Amino acid sequence: MLAELTHRCPLGCPYCSNPLALDPRESELDTRTWARIFREAAALNVLQVHLSGGEPGARRDLVEITAAAHSSGLYTNLITSAIGITPATLARLADAGLDHVQISIQDSEPVSADHIAGYQGAFARKKELAAEVVRLKIPLTVNVVVHRANVERIGAMVEMAIRHGASRVEIAHVQYYGWALHNREALLPTAEQTARALQVVEELRRQHRGAIVIDAVVPDYYAHFPKPCVGGWGRRSLNVTPAGKVLPCHAAESIPGLEFWSVRDHSLADIWANSPAFNAFRGTAWMKEPCRSCARRDIDFGGCRCQAFAITGDARAADPVCHLSPHHDEVVALTTGQRDVPYSYRVNRKSRVKVPESHMR
Ligand code: SF4
Ligand code: FES
Repeated sequence: MLAELTHRCPLGCPYCSNPLALDPRESELDTRTWARIFREAAALNVLQVHLSGGEPGARRDLVEITAAAHSSGLYTNLITSAIGITPATLARLADAGLDHVQISIQDSEPVSADHIAGYQGAFARKKELAAEVVRLKIPLTVNVVVHRANVERIGAMVEMAIRHGASRVEIAHVQYYGWALHNREALLPTAEQTARALQVVEELRRQHRGAIVIDAVVPDYYAHFPKPCVGGWGRRSLNVTPAGKVLPCHAAESIPGLEFWSVRDHSLADIWANSPAFNAFRGTAWMKEPCRSCARRDIDFGGCRCQAFAITGDARAADPVCHLSPHHDEVVALTTGQRDVPYSYRVNRKSRVKVPESHMR
């Protein structure tokens, strides 16, 4: 379960998968409601909760929320920008039962990293928090988010993750939802960069075998077959928004016409089993050709519904990343659509995001 505790965030990363319309602070669920959701999740056999955002450190009750998740029996993973989590807070989180921390890095070069984050000093703060996580012996994953501005430095970023003491590094090419879709022209790497990046990851795996686990998310637009997005719609994951809507995936609200239920009105079990949004694309009955008769339909589940809608305007279509999709040409055309335009930074007026002029390009 992904628990989006808040959409507030001090960073403004242009690849953020949060929706363009962010939930305001006033609408956020309170501590007691989160505690109830965690109990209901554990009763539903949920195993892990990712405490995410926005920046979860923006919640003053983060320690209480973490303690509630832990005491419900869930494995707790904090996904943080590192800004807003002080060493003292981290120590309290560890005492509350935090099992794992995930910190994303923007680049191996400080100036570029701060430019991408839209926050001066972010690079240094991440390094400091990573050291503190390791000092407290909490397992650390460093998440390397890859796009056109940093794709040539994957190797340097993995080296940096190793120096930070990470036990796992996740190399994730940007997926084009939310703010990332909005910034696609500025973020999309070229075919040559992508091919080289895939080679580099294989070399890094060979080089660091046994020292660090390297997971890699393949860049969508250059794939032959689509990813089985969220492991299949309504099959194994759910996402609770800051205001309490429960979504089958983080971008599901981008598909018009879906009816989402809220934890304010329904139990998690009721939502999982009966909400219209979760049942919209479960199983295979909703599929159109070519997915309907495809041998891979129970492997990739037709790919990503949100991507199908974003590119074809039809959420029931095959993910156009698939080379069998009648819309695949549209994806191929997009892969040549790079433009050096300025980033449109993700800004939540309720957070204190400041994007310095010097960071605009
Ligand atoms: Fe997957 Fe549909 Fe493509 Fe078959 S046609 S590989 S089910 S997206
Ligand atoms: Fe929504 Fe893939 S992000 S189904």
